[in-house]
Amino acid sequence: MSFSVNLLTKIVRRLSYNSMADYNVAQKRIEYLGKNQVLHEHELESHDPLKLFKVWFQKADSNKMIREPNAACLATATKDGVPSARFVLLKYFDSSGFTFFTNSDSRKGRELEENPRAAMTFYWDQMDRSVRIEGRVEKMQPGDSSVYFSSRPRASQIGAHVSRQSTVIASREYLEKLTEQIEAKYKDKEVPKPDYWNGYKIIPHSIEFWQGQSDRLHDRIQFIRSEDVGEHNKDVCQKGENGWVFYRLSP
Ligand SMILES: Cc1cc2nc3c(=O)[nH]c(=O)nc-3n(C[C@H](O)[C@H](O)[C@H](O)COP(=O)(O)O)c2cc1C
Repeated sequence: MSFSVNLLTKIVRRLSYNSMADYNVAQKRIEYLGKNQVLHEHELESHDPLKLFKVWFQKADSNKMIREPNAACLATATKDGVPSARFVLLKYFDSSGFTFFTNSDSRKGRELEENPRAAMTFYWDQMDRSVRIEGRVEKMQPGDSSVYFSSRPRASQIGAHVSRQSTVIASREYLEKLTEQIEAKYKDKEVPKPDYWNGYKIIPHSIEFWQGQSDRLHDRIQFIRSEDVGEHNKDVCQKGENGWVFYRLSP
């Protein structure tokens, strides 16, 4: 008797669970890395997170299954803390930070103007890895942005003049007409960088390396600047290189 009541309860629960959404992906799960591929602190290729990022990025870049290893979700916020996120392409990184390019009049551009902080997250699905970067943002000098702008394909340069990114427009035809006009304007001429098109560099104060584990006990190693260590986690911090410390986070 109690068996059939239990079974009935389970069936009712399953039915009501399935009806919670039009499209239920709650049971969709992939297997991440196995227990023999755990990420141990002493095995990290570097204890400087920028050097470690380079190692992870190079692996992602050489993985033929990953088409755009430099695609990253960029989060910004208004000065009141209202967040927004979108993908951008990382174009450069070095020991000082991570650079992307965008339209300064776009939503993200305006948010960065009033609140120059951002978070950038990479997810390399085929490697079961993710990296999270947080920091303050500096706008590049126009001359430096121009150097990169002039290396872009001509169609992308024209596109930067056509697009007043994030503004409302009437139609697709509007863009196509404007493209013809801009092409005519710069026929046989170099396309200059528009003033509103600029590079931004995230100068990180935190970089987290995440590696998925099939038992959901994922590996998370976070690096922060040594001056940012709070009293409460002083004991678990390990010394990194170049002014960084690191610790393990619970998954
Ligand atoms: C993979 C991918 C890469 C992108 N790269 C950039 C980029 O480098 N710069 C950019 O301004 N927008 C890029 N975009 C478009 C943005 O996601 C977004 O639509 C646009 O920047 C406007 O965002 P905003 O209105 O929040 O400012 C990319 C989109 C995708 C899907």
